[in-house]
Amino acid sequence: MKRKKIDIAALLQKKRNREKITMLTAYDAPTARMLDEAGIDTLLVGDSAANVVLGYQDTLPVSMDEMVHHTRAVVRGTEFAMVIGDMPFMSYNVSREEAIRNAGRFIKEGGAAAVKLEGGAHVADTVEELVKAGIPVVGHLGLTPQTAGMIGGYKVQGRDAETARRILEDAKKLQQAGAFLLVLECVPDRVAELISQTVEIPVIGIGAGAGCDGQVLVFHDMVGIKAGFTPKFVKRYAELGEAIVGAARAYKEEVEGGTFPGAEESFTITDEEFEKLRG
Ligand code: KIV
Repeated sequence: MKRKKIDIAALLQKKRNREKITMLTAYDAPTARMLDEAGIDTLLVGDSAANVVLGYQDTLPVSMDEMVHHTRAVVRGTEFAMVIGDMPFMSYNVSREEAIRNAGRFIKEGGAAAVKLEGGAHVADTVEELVKAGIPVVGHLGLTPQTAGMIGGYKVQGRDAETARRILEDAKKLQQAGAFLLVLECVPDRVAELISQTVEIPVIGIGAGAGCDGQVLVFHDMVGIKAGFTPKFVKRYAELGEAIVGAARAYKEEVEGGTFPGAEESFTITDEEFEKLRG
């Protein structure tokens, strides 16, 4: 069957058919090209770009300009996946007008198909305004890294009935506001499954168990590039970090030992031309 560009209708259909949706983060064109070739449904240009590829300590400092720059690169490398731009901290929190303007930049300048923002009931009005302006929106509930300081740090959310109910209610509000997709981060598996079964829009889990409609991981985590702490929910499908260090060490050894470049990697000049050169 001919592969088609993934759109909102295709994602909703996948949920209805009980087919799992795949999402990975991407921040550059070559990675996007590989993930698109692998058939991943949606590429999230996460604000995790801040700590994963830009060297910041957390997601807060990344700017609109930086996010649009990465989004453009991912879009250039993508043919079929839906590209979603992640709205950075403070790009949608000051006023609705600013939120629309910034979300619009992801679509107009970045070429993204949709934007993602964090928060529940308190951002529902903003979501509604963005949707009215013609911008498809993805919600993000549970552990919301941009406000980790206010929710007790990078911890599982919804472990008691009261907080779990709040997340469920937030999910319903975001759906009502017009969000077409929901990311649910670090929520107990049964709570996430209940939320996925309650709302009609697809729910993409990260650290939220197998009962969600799809899964997302940070690309650098799942291929073993990122150094430091690895959260419990990450599964490493490759050890590219080790492979890259190994390759760089071998290169250094060969350059220093004079075995690279060899004849196979060098260009030649005819003896005649060389003699002319030497005079
Ligand atoms: O920024 C990001 O990478 C995210 C995912 C973890 C869902 O929001």
